[in-house]
Order: sequence, then C-alpha cells, then structure tokens
Amino acid sequence: MPTIYTNAFEEDVYKGLTSYPKKLSSKYFYDEKGDKIFQQIMNMPEYYLTDAEYSIIESYTEKIAAAFNDENGFDIIELGAGDGKKTKVLLRYLNENKFNFSYQPIDISKYALKELKESLENELPNLKVIPQEGMYFKVLNRLAEYKSRKKVILVLGSNIGNLVQEKAIEFLQNIQASMNKGDLLFMGFDMKKNPQQIIDAYSDKTGITEAFNKNLLLRINREMNADFDLDKFLHWETYDPETGTAKSYLVAKEDLKVRLQKIDLEINFKAWETIHTEISQKYDDLTVNWLAEQANLKVIDQYVDSENLFKDFLLTIKA
Ligand SMILES: C[S@@+](CC[C@H](N)C(=O)[O-])C[C@H]1O[C@@H](n2cnc3c(N)ncnc32)[C@H](O)[C@@H]1O
Repeated sequence: MPTIYTNAFEEDVYKGLTSYPKKLSSKYFYDEKGDKIFQQIMNMPEYYLTDAEYSIIESYTEKIAAAFNDENGFDIIELGAGDGKKTKVLLRYLNENKFNFSYQPIDISKYALKELKESLENELPNLKVIPQEGMYFKVLNRLAEYKSRKKVILVLGSNIGNLVQEKAIEFLQNIQASMNKGDLLFMGFDMKKNPQQIIDAYSDKTGITEAFNKNLLLRINREMNADFDLDKFLHWETYDPETGTAKSYLVAKEDLKVRLQKIDLEINFKAWETIHTEISQKYDDLTVNWLAEQANLKVIDQYVDSENLFKDFLLTIKA
C-alpha cells in the first residue's frame, strides 16, 4: 500500500479498486471533460431532471424570491453549483428587482466554478459572486461560523441523490449544523416515477451517459498513468422501483489486468466483474420528510413541475 497519496482522488481510487465489490465515487466524474459531458446530459431529451427543475424555478421565481428575502439582505450559498443554468433564472430575477444579496457557489470542480464565474460576470456584471472550490463537507464546516446575515443554502439537481442514505442524512445534518434560526435550505429531489423513464435518463441510446461514466476511467488513465481500455467495459444502469435507487456500473467484458502506475497498483478484473460508480436516489414525500426529521429540519414549502417529475423543498431548522 502506498504511504503517500498526492490527493484524495488517488486515495479514494486506491481504496475503491482494492475493495470488493469494486467502487469509484461519482464526485470524480467532474473534471473539465466530465463537466462538458454533464452539460450534454442536461440537454438530452431523456434527462428530464434539468427541464423539470428549470420549469419549477421559472414558474415560481417570484414566490421563491419572496421566501428568500430578508430586510438585512441574504447570502445564497449553492452546494455543487455546476454550470448554474437553473440558478441563473433566480439570480437574474433577484438582480433585476434589486434584492440585497450575494451568491456563493461551491463546487469540487474548479472548471465548473471558473466557467460559472466568467459567465455571471458577463450576464450579471453587478452581482456579487464569491466562488469556493471544495467538497461539500469541508466547506460546510466553514459555513457554520458564518452568522452575519440570513443564509439560503441551495442544493439543486437532486445532488443529494448521489449519496447513499447514511451519507445523505449526514449531509443534511451538516447543513443543519451550519444553519441559524431563520436560515433556509432550498433542495431539489428527483421523485419516483415510471421506472422506464428513469432507466432511459441514465442510459440514453446515443451513448452520452456511457461516455460520462467511462470518463472516470479516462481521468484515472490521465491522472494516475493507468491503462484502462474503455472498450473492454460496458455501461450498465439498474433501477429498483421499491427502494427508488438507480445505480450505474462499469462492467468488465473479459478477464483484465489494469495498471495504475502513479499509485503503484495493479488490479485484476474477472469477466463480468463490476465497478459501482454512481447512485441516483429517487424519493417520495414520506422519505423526504423522514430525511428532514433525521437532521432536525422541517419542510415549510414545496414546489413541483407540471408533470410531477421533480420537487424542490424549502426547509428550515426545527425549533
Ligand atoms: C449532478 S451535477 C448538478 C449540478 C447543478 N446542481 C445542477 O443542478 O445543474 C453535480 C455537481 O456537484 C458537484 N459535486 C459533486 N460532488 C461534490 C462534492 N462532494 N462536493 C462539492 N461538489 C460536488 C459536481 O462537480 C457537479 O458540478
């Protein structure tokens, strides 16, 4: 086992590929190429999530803005902001209507943050933008000390669905611990629906989601001097309508040996062995309320799209 890793990615890859069954974390999808492929995913007709949440924010902008507002102004802190496509609808409205607020996007991807900052400088030049690069949990610890005025924490795109239940609760508990009385959490949840629609969203026929999943291997090849042969792996999606859990895998099509020189690792795959790469949890109202309860949060409002595909919940800390 190597004693020194250069970064968390290397350590997580080492641990994930030496565990059984093998796994890699979806948070590493998002490098420069991964961000671009994710933008293609958001534009796919099958990936209903983005359009549904966009339409929610567009339909309820005024109501959402009124809920966020405070006489002393407020700070919007967005966790896993990505390209901010949906957030911009809200930011534009708040800016045009002279609300007193700042916008602090947080993301693990420095490329996503850089692009978001530059696009906002063009589109909304007088908006105060304070980007922070880092993982949710690390940044949330810093946020706890931030008490100067009302905080509104945004988590869009059902980012929470990429966490297994235990981690999702921990995530909500961390957010709750960083909130003061009156602060708000506005969070998107993808809802349970026709299982076929979910499967199609994560395994489109054009192969964009496949390229997204395999980009993880490309990234390891590039950053860890490895030799994954992408053609030897199959992109596979499953959805369990009982638990609401969609899972993405990469499946080895034959016996393989892969070398990751930078972290001094040689990995063997048996034919049809899997690497679990992503979970995308789907919810119902009962589960969302239960999760909120586990973190001492309560739902105070909810917004849904016209096809009942997606919901944004407004939460606050329980008294
Ligand atoms: C599914 S995308 C959604 C982006 C955006 N929220 C949206 O709705 O379009 C997830 C985003 O969260 C970021 N992300 C994923 N895991 C993260 C983590 N642990 N800490 C910080 N950012 C993370 C990714 O880089 C990516 O930009």
